[in-house]
Amino acid sequence: MHEEPGLFEVMYTLRAMRRLKPDPVPLELVERLLDAGIRAPSGQNSQPWAFLVLTGTDDKRFFGERYDYWIKERFGAALLADDPRTAQGRTVNAARHLAEHMHEAPVILMVLGRRDWPFAVAPEARVGRAPPSYGSVYPCVQNILLAARALGLGASLTTMHQMFEDELHAHFGIPEDHGVVAVIPIGWPQGRFGPVRREPVADKTHYGRWGGARPRA
Ligand SMILES: Cc1cc2nc3c(=O)[nH]c(=O)nc-3n(C[C@H](O)[C@H](O)[C@H](O)COP(=O)(O)O)c2cc1C
Repeated sequence: MHEEPGLFEVMYTLRAMRRLKPDPVPLELVERLLDAGIRAPSGQNSQPWAFLVLTGTDDKRFFGERYDYWIKERFGAALLADDPRTAQGRTVNAARHLAEHMHEAPVILMVLGRRDWPFAVAPEARVGRAPPSYGSVYPCVQNILLAARALGLGASLTTMHQMFEDELHAHFGIPEDHGVVAVIPIGWPQGRFGPVRREPVADKTHYGRWGGARPRA
């Protein structure tokens, strides 16, 4: 039986898992992820998220074909760098693998957000459509990724759908007052979870003012 790792282990090993097994994922598990997602905070507790769960072959193929096309269109030759000895090469290989196999992911989860203008955009400056409330949806997205990792499911955050979002609206009947914030393919991982690589916190932290040194204790 899968033993749930602690929160810090989950956070420290939450890698983008782009290589997934085709084995099915029960909907009950997906719903557990969503139930963790909706525990997230949001501005004024507005809870502007909505979910579109794709499990049908045709639906996943519709999404996967466009995702693969646009990944290659945008990154082109960069996606051919396949040196597995470098971290960059491994990431590129995994991203290309995901694009080519997106349609085989057992579940493709779209996280949507209701559109709303940020406070800082004055009413007279509000031209066109408001963006989805990214700030209020990303905590939900992160909760879903954390919950997937805790349950041993592989997942990764993708945003290339931006290149064909209008097609998604038309095909899946997504209302105009919602935007697609993130698309998360989910399945059982082919590989193992390992530590994430990040630049050290000391390189990112300033005290008192930008560039300020850490005060002595
Ligand atoms: C806003 C955002 C957009 C991303 N979009 C994509 C994407 O379209 N395709 C993809 O394969 N990975 C995408 N990623 C995943 C990142 O590439 C990944 O988190 C990063 O390289 C660090 O790798 P790790 O999470 O495995 O440590 C995205 C991540 C974020 C936060």
